[in-house]
Amino acid sequence: MNWSQYAIVYDLMADSNPAYQQLLKDFCSYMTGLSIPPDGIILDLGAGTGHFSLLAAQNYPNCKIIHVDQDTKMIARAKEKAHALGVTNIEFVCGDVCSPQLEKGTVQLLLSIHCLYACGSHSQALEQAHLILAPGGNAYFIDPGRYLDIRDWSGYLFKHLVKSRGLLSAVTTFIRGLPVARANRAILRLQKEGVYWTHTTDQFGNALKEAGFKICQLDTCYRGYSDRAICKKTDS
Ligand SMILES: C[S@@+](CC[C@H](N)C(=O)[O-])C[C@H]1O[C@@H](n2cnc3c(N)ncnc32)[C@H](O)[C@@H]1O
Repeated sequence: MNWSQYAIVYDLMADSNPAYQQLLKDFCSYMTGLSIPPDGIILDLGAGTGHFSLLAAQNYPNCKIIHVDQDTKMIARAKEKAHALGVTNIEFVCGDVCSPQLEKGTVQLLLSIHCLYACGSHSQALEQAHLILAPGGNAYFIDPGRYLDIRDWSGYLFKHLVKSRGLLSAVTTFIRGLPVARANRAILRLQKEGVYWTHTTDQFGNALKEAGFKICQLDTCYRGYSDRAICKKTDS
């Protein structure tokens, strides 16, 4: 999977996709009810072009956000956006989520959105994530568990674009977004080959429990394709 190629058009996909926008809105609602101590650390694992890390940085201006991704193009795009928004409380780290270089028990809020399935070893990533989370700390996970149905997504996005922007703009956006379709075909192939993790909601919950997380809420989102878990690390 070539994440650098996807990085160029990733924001076009995210900005044109109401299901993705809903994930961002839900995360904002989650943050409303969550206080993090000033100087706390928020870690976004597989943070891509920064949709979630930037929201966290703006919502918790006194915290330090650590944005980890293995792909330099994804990070470069996130940096550009942070600069344009005047956000300065993000540290960008190019690295593997399976071996994050952080001290144990130091992170107050941990996020991983649409990354675990692709990271190589979700169980290792989750085990490490649990170790670096502070006792009493919070975690917010979303992961696509089901096969990406390209025809279903294309139809959904095209209908939405025609309705919201008109036919001509929908066609133009689709043509610009051809690399998105290419990336999604690569993801589907890797899912089918078993290289990328697929799961039911229950299997997702069980993987989190095995890593030691206490699950406070578990549901499906992203048109039924993804699972979301709101978790805590118990104090002891
Ligand atoms: C589908 S994107 C999601 C990006 C972002 N979290 C979002 O929701 O917009 C998946 C990201 O995970 C990153 N990734 C995949 N495996 C990784 C690994 N082992 N270590 C670090 N980043 C990884 C990719 O580079 C890519 O940026």
